[in-house]
Amino acid sequence: SNVRSAVTDELDFYGLSTPMELVETYGSPLYVYNENVLRRRCRELKGLSSHPGFRVNYSAKANANLSLLRIIRSEGLVVDAMSPGEIAMHLAAGFTPDEITYVCNNVSAEELRNAVDHGLLVSVDSLPQLDLLGQVNPGGKVMIRINPGIGAGHHKKVVTGGKETKFGIGPDDGDAVRRILKRHNLTLAGLNQHIGSLFMEPDSYMEAVEFLLREAEQWDSLEVIDFGGGFGIPYRKYEKQPRLDMEATGRMLDDCIGRWAERTGYNGRFMIEPGRYVTAECGVVLGTVHAVKNNGERRFAGTDLGFNVLQRPVMYDAFHDVEIYREDGVPQQETMQQTIVGNICESGDIMAAARELPEIQEGDIIAMLDAGAYGFAMSSSYNQRLRPAEVLVDKDGRDRLIRRRETLDDLLACFPEHAEKTGGSV
Ligand code: LLP
Repeated sequence: SNVRSAVTDELDFYGLSTPMELVETYGSPLYVYNENVLRRRCRELKGLSSHPGFRVNYSAKANANLSLLRIIRSEGLVVDAMSPGEIAMHLAAGFTPDEITYVCNNVSAEELRNAVDHGLLVSVDSLPQLDLLGQVNPGGKVMIRINPGIGAGHHKKVVTGGKETKFGIGPDDGDAVRRILKRHNLTLAGLNQHIGSLFMEPDSYMEAVEFLLREAEQWDSLEVIDFGGGFGIPYRKYEKQPRLDMEATGRMLDDCIGRWAERTGYNGRFMIEPGRYVTAECGVVLGTVHAVKNNGERRFAGTDLGFNVLQRPVMYDAFHDVEIYREDGVPQQETMQQTIVGNICESGDIMAAARELPEIQEGDIIAMLDAGAYGFAMSSSYNQRLRPAEVLVDKDGRDRLIRRRETLDDLLACFPEHAEKTGGSV
């Protein structure tokens, strides 16, 4: 039997099909999502607080597949958007405008107008953007993003709080904010923050929660207080990395907001804004091994999983667990150091470096685990490769296509000169 599929085996991740069958049916590389895992994560997050105003605001930049958004909505989560594209996706998934918050950064008047016209509450994160929103929507409601001066995250590229990041309005800018609000007759209806992505201990998050609640006491018009996301997941499951303690986090959060609301008489909403925690673990990406070779001491398994498909390992040196599947199972045997690489023409195209794994063979199917967040969402058409298909394994274990693989027609469709000659076809 397979020594390197314990994690997905335990979840019955692929339902009624094997990973080999999924690749045969839908092609390779392939993103596969499991509905049960997704629903479980939604429920865990909703259970963090029993306060009646508590909402989980899914940060859709992690994964905006329409079918997944529909499931997330059916679990009672609301959603954030940060581009016109995300607004369009959310509306198509059935979210109503009061369920969408626009949390943007450095956008045009036109974009602000688009969000306002859709009836969304908009959060701005600088004084000039606040002024611009005032011009676009005088007399309206607005939310501002505060930079609490506290940061957290798995890599410096994803720490969003603190003085060295581009985000948020500083806590000392209160007077300037008031002047701009007054100038445009705006009402400050919400505060939000986001300190960064991926914490495994709740301490700095809770520190930031307390900070934002102190800030909130200076305003009596608030309807929403949004503490941001960043809830981490264990990427090293084969090393038994502990999970973030959601029960302890929930106790602290629930207690903190409950006491604060009681003391201040606040009866608006409290939100958290997780992306990764909602979708990371419900997704894997499957690829196929095409060539195995030794370059000197190094053993390379060459696959179709390049950083066009999964960018995280290259962008952040991120670690994803690897599983190996073969028709007749991967035998219990000695492991060896192997480096899993993709098919992109850069030597940095490394998915997993020097891993101790059972011997990988040509024809094997490889899974990169925990790829449901910032996986497909960050994929690209670099080297003019087509973006992969996405498949859902539903509650009953049945699989279905939820995004078709891109085609060569999709690739060429944006070139007007090509379209003129061919009527748009390859
Ligand atoms: N709210 C705001 C305003 C954000 O900018 C983000 C993520 C979130 C919420 C959700 O954060 P999460 O719960 O997913 O940590 N591509 C990187 C992560 C970038 C996060 C960007 N902002 C990665 O793959 O690790």
